[in-house]
This record gives sequence, C-alpha cells and structure tokens, in this order.
Amino acid sequence: MEKIRLQKYLAQQGIASRRKCETFIIQGKVKINNIITTQLGTKIDPKKDKIEVNGVEIKKDKIEKKYILLNKPIGYITTVKDQYTRKTVLDLVKEIKIRLVPVGRLDMYTSGALLLTNDGEFTYKITHPKHEIKKTYIVTLEGIISRNDIQELQKGVDIGDYITKPAKVKILSTNKEKKITKLEIIIHEGKNRQVRRMCEAINKKVIALHRAKIADIEVGNLKIGTWRYLTKEEINSLYK
Ligand code: URA
Repeated sequence: MEKIRLQKYLAQQGIASRRKCETFIIQGKVKINNIITTQLGTKIDPKKDKIEVNGVEIKKDKIEKKYILLNKPIGYITTVKDQYTRKTVLDLVKEIKIRLVPVGRLDMYTSGALLLTNDGEFTYKITHPKHEIKKTYIVTLEGIISRNDIQELQKGVDIGDYITKPAKVKILSTNKEKKITKLEIIIHEGKNRQVRRMCEAINKKVIALHRAKIADIEVGNLKIGTWRYLTKEEINSLYK
C-alpha cells in the first residue's frame, strides 16, 4: 500500500477532522510504532505501521464510514455540542449510534441540505475552499429586486471582512402585491452567514433561507427534519 500522510490517515479512519488530527499530532498525542511524532509531514504505511492516538491503537478500517443528508429545520444549531443546551442537528440523527460531525454549517434560522459524516477526510474535501463545492440556496427577500442588485450579487459584494467571489444568481419569482422576491443563489464559498450578509450588502432583508443543494446532492422531497444515507454515486461524485 502507498504511504500516506499521518493526518490524512487519521481523518480517513474517522478519528476527527483533518485539522483536529493535525492538532493531536502537534500536541504529541500520536505515536507511530511506539514513538511519538509531532511532525505533520510524516508519512506512514497503514499496512505496516502501528498508529496510536492517546494511547489507543487505530484498528485499520474498523470504523464504518457513514454519510448522511439531513433536511435541517430552522431552530436547530449546527454544532456537536451546544453550551446553552439548545437543540442541535445531532438531535435529529440520534438513531445512528456513531459519532457524526456536521460538514460545514447552516445557521440556526436556515433550513435545508446539511451533510453529516464520521469521515474526517470527506469533511476536509467538502469544506476546503480550494475544492469549490457549489452550494445552491433559495432566498426569500423582502422587496422587489432590481437588475442592478442582481448584478451586484453576481459580481461579488463587500460583506464586511470579505468581498464575495462571483456568484450565480437568478430570480425565481416576484410577488408585487406582497412585495417579495425569491432568488436562487449559487456560491462555492462558505463564509459565516454568507448569503444573509450578501443580501444585507444590497440592503435587502432575508425572510427565509433554504439550502436546496450541495454540489448535485439535492434535499428534494426529503421531509424537513428527516435524513437519508447518501448513495455510493453521490459520495463518489463529491470526490471528482
Ligand atoms: N449563508 C447564510 O447566510 N446562512 C447559512 O446558513 C448558509 C449560508
């Protein structure tokens, strides 16, 4: 078997996210063949080398990988543990008796597609900006949107600490009586509350925000608050 970077291997084995695994290494919590290593670049041979984290040996590929698509309702926090004991997305997947971690984040008042997994390497791949995974949002806004507003969003707007990259934006519907506009916005970045802040930047108030898709994986008619496993094809499509 090919040699592989230690942090990548640990993440693949579901120990934690790749970043967390790097921290474990730096903190001296990882041993290769009974010797502590703090070098992030170290490569190992998973077939030959004995790897321990916090004194516990990693049994090769013993942990089954799980990949889940949740249709997150509003009112749930995307975190593993909430300090105020509010409802978290993990409360919705309790029947899976494995330590799952949300892949990226949806804010409390946003609904829709959220992936959860115990595969740290998968999380790294989906959330790292260099992989440019597209996320499709349906945004309901107060007011009627001008051509200029659309162009601004498409070009990129200043959201305070960051200028957003070009986005795909189209009007899905306008209701002149109720003064409401529905937009589809596709972005491939994941700044905190990015879509809401993009709308704030053009002085528009968000009434509702829903993530319809991550890459080509759609929530479709998955009932709100329920989940399903990703298919093999869906998992592979994210690795392209
Ligand atoms: N943009 C937001 O404003 N909120 C989310 O949850 C995701 C993207």
